[in-house]
Formats: sequence, structure tokens, C-alpha cells
Amino acid sequence: MRLVPVEFVRLTSLSGDFASCTERSRGPVRRLGNMFEMRRETAPLGAHGLSFLVEVGRGGGQATALFDGGLRGDVLAANARYLRKDLRRVETVFLSHGHPDHFGGLPRALELIAARPKRAPVPVVLHEAALRERCWVWPGLRGGRYRLDPGLIRRPGARPVYLRGPEVFLGGRALFLTAIPRRTPYERKRPGGQVLYRNGRGWQLDTTPDDGALVVHLRGRGLVILTGCGHAGLMNTVREATLRTGVRRVHALVGGFHLCGASARRIGATIRDLRAFAPRWVIPSHCSGLEFEAALMQAFPRGCALDMVGTEYAWSAPGRP
Ligand SMILES: [Fe+2]
Ligand SMILES: [Fe+2]
Repeated sequence: MRLVPVEFVRLTSLSGDFASCTERSRGPVRRLGNMFEMRRETAPLGAHGLSFLVEVGRGGGQATALFDGGLRGDVLAANARYLRKDLRRVETVFLSHGHPDHFGGLPRALELIAARPKRAPVPVVLHEAALRERCWVWPGLRGGRYRLDPGLIRRPGARPVYLRGPEVFLGGRALFLTAIPRRTPYERKRPGGQVLYRNGRGWQLDTTPDDGALVVHLRGRGLVILTGCGHAGLMNTVREATLRTGVRRVHALVGGFHLCGASARRIGATIRDLRAFAPRWVIPSHCSGLEFEAALMQAFPRGCALDMVGTEYAWSAPGRP
């Protein structure tokens, strides 16, 4: 799948588990939530889940997309306002998977996107398994049930695009990976709690086939890979991104890596395998897990930053400001 290389990639964290108004900017990691650097009297709000505004550019053209909506629409709207990000510019919405901490904020986001007069319905891209009815399970415990209401994305102003496999969007500039093959032996089972989905009358172990990632090729630097929860496995996702695009270099890896509750052995194996790709930036967020975040900081001291709501990651091709 050939991706059109882009000249810049800008990711802005609109909703996420961590909020800090004191974390300092460093190079392309711009802490717009830092009240002191930004001379603001307020700061963005933290809330469980993940949502990123994605801006990619090539020549004079720019494409804007929303990747997930976080858990709460009110938080997403407040943060977009704080960051002065106009969601009416969003051309495509990607839903990484059907968990409420990613789709919960979508109704409000779609309202904000549709506020542009006379616009065509915005495509909402998702794997069809994102509509499964699901529940969480831990040993001896069962969590609440949830399901993404398909009416939410069939509303006026939105047009669902159901996938069974990866496809290219944004005029060839972004690959939405989904149905990611589970090739890495230690990534076959998700760490910590499991998820069940309703299959007919019964409940079955869910492997989250809908889990997806957005992949962009930044000219001269390599791939920028954005994950939601990373349920497909971090290494499975990175390997699939490089195989599908034919681009071996990874410039940045951003998002939820779902290694909360992972064993020290699995964390060690992931760090070892990640080093082989030598990513310039690793930006863990959301469900990555404190132990894995600490391991990343140690392994990639020059290029690791913890994602905070309100952070903008601005990467350009060589020779561009
Ligand atoms: Fe999540
Ligand atoms: Fe999830």
C-alpha cells in the first residue's frame, strides 16, 4: 500500500488520561497545556480515554482528521476550545476500536464537526467489529456492558465507512490499519483484564479485531504511527505498518500501548524488539502502563515523552522549519 509522503505531521492530544500544566516543551513536543509557557490562566482537562487531532500536509494542501473521541464529549469540546482547534476543519473521523473511552466523545465531536454550513457528511471510519456488544472481565469480576450505538454514526452530518481490513485515506496520505495480524508470540493475549463480546446468545473471548492505528509517512524521516489502545499489540502494529507501507524506518510511535498490567518479561521483550526499529520518538499515552512508560524513558532517553492532554507533536520533513 503506497502512501504519499507528507511534509509535516501535527498531532494534538485533545483528550487523555493525563493532564499537566507544568510539563515543559521540548523541541517538537509542544506543551500547549503549560500555563506558564503559554501565559494562560487555565489548563486543559484530563479524562480517561484518548483523542487526537491529526493534521498532515503536502505542498500547499493540508488534511485534518480526528482520531477517536475520548470518553467524554464535554471534555473534548472544552479542550478543543482551550487549544483553539476548530473541529469544523475535520474531513475524516477514525475510530480506533469500539471501547467507550474512545467512542464516548464522538457524538459531541460530530456535532462540532457538522457545525460547518453546507458541508458533506463526514466519513466515520471503523472496523465493523467496533459495533460488538462487549463487557470487561477480570478474574472473579465482570464489568459493565457497552456497545457503540450505530445510530450515533448514521446521524445527519456523518457517514459510516465500515472496514474489514486496512485502507488508505486523506488523499493517499494516511493508512488506517485494522484487522492487524497477531504475529508476535508474546502479544497473543492482552495483559490484565480481558473483554468478552456477545456472539448470538453467548459470550466469547474478544480479541478486538477492530483495533486500529493511523500511519503516515513523513518524507525523509519515516513512519508516524498513532494507536488508540494498541490491543493488537505494539510490535504487531509496528511490524504491520512497516510491511504494508514498505517503509522500514519509524520516526514516531504515539498512543495507548496497552501494557498496563504486563509482566516484566513482556515489557522487556517489547523494548528489545522496539529498539530494532530505532524510533526517534516514542510517546506513550492512556493505557500504556507506568512500568512500560518508565522502561521506554530508560531505553529512549532522547526521544521519549509522556503524552499529556494539550500537547502538540509537530514533525517536519528535513529542510522544512
Ligand atoms: Fe482505551
Ligand atoms: Fe480499548
